[in-house]
Amino acid sequence: MRDTRPAGVADRCEHPTPLASGRDADVFVIDDRRVLRRYREGGDVAAEAAVMAHVASHGFPVPRVYQARGADLVMERLDGPTMLSAFLAGELDATETATCLADLHRRLHALPPRLGQGEDDRILHLDLHPENVMLTSRGPVVIDWRNATEGPADLDVALSAIIIAQVAVEEAHPLASPAATLLAAFVDRVGGRVLTTLDQAVAMRRDDPALTSGERERLDAAAALITGRCWSRQPRGAARPGA
Ligand SMILES: Nc1ncnc2c1ncn2[C@@H]1O[C@H](COP(=O)(O)OP(=O)(O)OP(=O)(O)O)[C@@H](O)[C@H]1O
Ligand SMILES: [Mg+2]
Repeated sequence: MRDTRPAGVADRCEHPTPLASGRDADVFVIDDRRVLRRYREGGDVAAEAAVMAHVASHGFPVPRVYQARGADLVMERLDGPTMLSAFLAGELDATETATCLADLHRRLHALPPRLGQGEDDRILHLDLHPENVMLTSRGPVVIDWRNATEGPADLDVALSAIIIAQVAVEEAHPLASPAATLLAAFVDRVGGRVLTTLDQAVAMRRDDPALTSGERERLDAAAALITGRCWSRQPRGAARPGA
């Protein structure tokens, strides 16, 4: 069996303990204070570490980065569950979860951009969903900054909505029903701005090589679910939102 234990920093620890595995990365415990997140297919964490340092310097909640080298990011070990686990366990209801997510967007997009090439550019996470938020003793903390970039704030909001909607429209998905409930609450919080760059968000998801063909096929249905929810919250006779 292939030894997947990390080299480098974690090599110097006795037995790095696997903590979690995402689609792209494995996370190992180094000690009480630190974890190592390592991309399985290699890569360079420098860009995401730079964004994390920038947002942290403006008070946005991210894990503290101790070392970024190649595919390895050594960072603060967070306590507490992910926002998804807390939502599924009933510790947060859909409104509280959606409010927390929308609030993280608002706080992130209020920060000064790091590069700021366009007038309306803001820092975007572009993968801000309940599995990438950990509810710690110091409040919600956002992880997984791989996709972070700068651009229009609404695009970040639309991507969160489309990611949740993709689960909601997958009938066989065990979380389809809670995802639909959460999507409705999230759209209620963020309103019609979710539509302004929805097409762009769908196009970005379509280009994501990590998506399965089934997920790609359901993108249009996911976008329609978001549009339908926006439309249904309008008073009768109102102009179609985003039109
Ligand atoms: N700083 C941290 N402290 C404690 N646990 C962490 C930390 N960072 C990540 N984790 C754990 O590792 C899991 C995966 O982390 P992360 O989302 O960064 O990896 P990923 O491979 O990009 O995941 P995915 O592709 O599924 O989004 C998280 O859900 C969380 O349980
Ligand atoms: Mg993740």
